[in-house]
Amino acid sequence: MHVLEARQFERAWLQGTLFPLADRMAGLAEFGAHRLLEGRRLFWLFFEPSTRTRVSFESAIALLGGTATGIQVDPGAELVPERLEDRVQVINGYGYDFLLLRYHEEGGAARAAAVSRAPVINAGDGAGEHPTQALLDAYTIWKELGRLEGLRVALVGDLTYERSTTSLARLLAHCGVAGIDFVSPALLPVRAEIKHELADAGVAFRELRDVRQVAADVDVLYLTRAHTERLRYAQRSEREAGHYAVDAHVMQLLRPSAIVMHPLPRGPELPPELDADPRVACFRQARNGLHVRMALLLLLADASPLPASR
Ligand code: CP
Repeated sequence: MHVLEARQFERAWLQGTLFPLADRMAGLAEFGAHRLLEGRRLFWLFFEPSTRTRVSFESAIALLGGTATGIQVDPGAELVPERLEDRVQVINGYGYDFLLLRYHEEGGAARAAAVSRAPVINAGDGAGEHPTQALLDAYTIWKELGRLEGLRVALVGDLTYERSTTSLARLLAHCGVAGIDFVSPALLPVRAEIKHELADAGVAFRELRDVRQVAADVDVLYLTRAHTERLRYAQRSEREAGHYAVDAHVMQLLRPSAIVMHPLPRGPELPPELDADPRVACFRQARNGLHVRMALLLLLADASPLPASR
């Protein structure tokens, strides 16, 4: 099985299999290395930089007794460019058990999967998807708030090109949430296909320009980088100034039980001065990535049976 897009995962699998296993991985990670994936090898092939995705997968397989190696490719600086499909077939020939791929163009993971025996894990493909980010995001919401059903979630920022929000919206479409507020400049709206998926799933959604309009109503405020060149350009074209960041005023509007999430790395949309507020969950979210990715590797390797937790 390849991990290519968020919509391949269903609520029953998340809540019945992945999330409980991730809970158990949190315990395992705390108490040291295990051998459940002894002898298994992960290759990471990255065409864009990464801290969280790469390090958490490397740590995940190491904690389970396996090994990781890989290469960082700068697609603009290659003296001898090579087809993605050729590289993937060569890596397959070296007997790896998992191929973790971050690609700079949408569709890269699907291209790799078409020629790969080893499970391809999409670690982000350009403006496409980042499905394991969505898995850890959904797990974080479930862990922090105790459920996914009935929640209101706001996704904020560049909703056309931000792969984390695309994947999370796709995953939540099938998780019984009460509704999704998309907060973005008019030039960077949520993609049409996601609106169709939400409509088909019966999930209500709104499109807005100002996070202050939704802050008091949501259970989850999910921010993304709001100060990229693309977002600045989009904002300049808006008749009324949008607002895609949190500050002390937005934190005041938020419910005491709400959480603020961010896939990181962040910009000024989530000032570090707010980190002391327990509702800011971004570092717990990043840590959960280790446990979700440990669980995912076990499930992909079909090595999940563990002694039942007591
Ligand atoms: N959230 C995320 O994907 O971070 P990295 O780019 O550091 O992997």
